[in-house]
This record gives sequence, structure tokens and C-alpha cells, in this order.
Amino acid sequence: MPKRLEQQAPVIEVHDLTKVFGRFTAVDHISFSIRRGEIFGFLGPNGAGKSTTIRMLCGLLSSSSGSANVGGFDINRQPEQVRQSIGYMSQKFSLYKDLTVEENIAFFGGVYGLAGKRLAERASAVMAMAGLSGSESQLTGTLSGALQQRLALGCAILHEPPILFLDEPTSGVDPISRRMFWDLIQEMASTGVTILITTHFMDEAEFCGRIGFISGGRLVALDTPRALKHQSVDEDLFELTLPSFRGALEKLSGLDGLRASSYFGSRLHLFCRRGTFTVGSLKHTVQERGLDVQRAELIPVSLEDAFVRLVQKQAAEKNG
Ligand SMILES: Nc1ncnc2c1ncn2[C@@H]1O[C@H](COP(=O)(O)OP(=O)(O)O)[C@@H](O)[C@H]1O
Ligand SMILES: [Mg+2]
Repeated sequence: MPKRLEQQAPVIEVHDLTKVFGRFTAVDHISFSIRRGEIFGFLGPNGAGKSTTIRMLCGLLSSSSGSANVGGFDINRQPEQVRQSIGYMSQKFSLYKDLTVEENIAFFGGVYGLAGKRLAERASAVMAMAGLSGSESQLTGTLSGALQQRLALGCAILHEPPILFLDEPTSGVDPISRRMFWDLIQEMASTGVTILITTHFMDEAEFCGRIGFISGGRLVALDTPRALKHQSVDEDLFELTLPSFRGALEKLSGLDGLRASSYFGSRLHLFCRRGTFTVGSLKHTVQERGLDVQRAELIPVSLEDAFVRLVQKQAAEKNG
């Protein structure tokens, strides 16, 4: 096959994948595909079904229905081959804290069938990548969060898997280390490693080539970060800083031109019909309704806004 076509062929293909726990559907008919070397991000609130999907794709959890092919293997019929051809970093790094760095590497190397010279070579490559050379005999639990994170990544790639599943790998890690971690990920992707990653840091999601938004077990949108923002929000977006949120939404309800609102950290985001307000006129209108406004700004749409708006729109459609 010509090289370009080969690079475009999907490495992960998912069809109607579903997981039911008792009477609860955690993952609901999800379908998507990921190309070689792509960084694909899963975004969605807690409980949306991200980890459950990943665990099925890793061959660690059986599916209830649907199918998926990961690196040429069927997750339902060949889970063992799937496990051998992927790297997985679970949500709570699965390192043994009471083992040394070296012992963790030896343990995970063993899981992936590495031994002798190859294990030694891979161990030293991974230690260098993680910035852990010289810390071989340190107890893992005494490493900083950022070093544990990089060791966990190192353990997941000891066997040089062509596919990597990273489940919230940057939780609890400081911003600079998060940035370094992303540099590593992007470098791996540039060598052709296919990466599926979940995060709830919206700034990180911008580094993904494509993003799947998951809500209530369903894949509600899938596209590039730029296209998602474009498609989900077709309003002017204003950010208000208020001394108190008390009664804010009630006071604004029915405001002509206001299509939706959401809290964004300690601020209020208002999605207004294009061209209805300027910053000045909105501030004035809101004040007239009895709200004290410290600051009003017209701001660019973030992925979080896109997600919120999309979920609101879909809920509105559902409720007629
Ligand atoms: N083994 C299980 N038994 C019952 N419910 C589960 C199990 N694992 C996950 N769930 C439920 O499935 C939903 C999705 O969980 P999860 O995939 O961990 O979400 P996310 O990773 O997006 O936060 C949650 O409501 C969770 O409580
Ligand atoms: Mg999770």
C-alpha cells in the first residue's frame, strides 16, 4: 500500500460499542475511527463513559454489544492480542508505590513479555524519557506527582506499542509538567503512535487533532477543536463578572436576544443572538434588571463553551 494511504487507514475502528451495567447504560452505541498518528481526545463530564469506553478498547472489559477493531484485532474475539499491542495508562496511575522505580519497570516489562537485554534497553530509554535516570532505586511513592506520571507513561510504552490509551494522565499534575507531558505525547504521535486520551483540562484538548464530546454515554459530537467551536456556538459570547450570582439567571430570564447562559468558574457566560448587544448595551441592560456588573467582555468561544452549548441544544431538541 502506498505510504500515504497506509497512514490514513484507521487504526482504531469502533461500531455501536455499548456497555450496560445492570439496568444502566454507561456507553451507548458509540462509533468512531482514529487514524495512525492521530491524537484523539475524549472530552466530557465525570460519569460520561470515557473510562468505560477505554477499558473496552483495551481488551480489559467486555462489551455488551457492538464491535471494535484495535490495531487489527477484534476487542471481543481477540482481547489478549489487543492488550499486547496497546499501552494503557489508567486513570489512577497503576504504579506500585511501595516498589522502587526499577522494580515497577521490571514488573510492567514482565507483563508485556520483555526480559534480558531488551528489557534493560527499554528500561534505560524509558528512564531517560521520564527524567528518572539516577532514581532507579527510589521508592515510587516518594516521587513527585509529575515524575510518577512520567514513570506511568514510561511503563505503558515499555513494549513500544503503536497505540496508546491515556485516561486523564494529567490529573493532579502541575501546569509546567502537564505541558512537558504534552510535548512527549506530540513527539510520539509524530512518529506514528496513535493516541486516545481523555482529559478535563479544556486547554489541553486544544492539542488534540480531533475531539469526541461524550455526554451520558453518547458521542454527541466529533470534529477538530476549531470546527466544534464553530458548529456549536453561533452566538456572540459575553462574559460577565458579578459580585454575586444570587438570582442572576432569574433576573435575566426572558431577555430578548439571550439564547443561553452558563456558569463558567466564577463568571457568567451569556450566549446572545449575533449583533443584538455590544458590551456596553449588554452591561446597561443587565444592570437595568437589577444586577450589579463588575465587568463585561465579548470573548472567544472555548471548547468548554462549545460543549455546554451543544449539550443544551441537544437537551432542548429532545424536550421538543
Ligand atoms: N463496574 C461498574 N458497575 C456499575 N457502574 C459502573 C461501573 N463502572 C462504571 N460505572 C458507571 O458508568 C458510568 C460511566 O463511568 P466512567 O466510564 O468511569 O465515566 P468517565 O470516565 O467519563 O468519568 C458512571 O455512571 C459509573 O458510575
Ligand atoms: Mg474516567
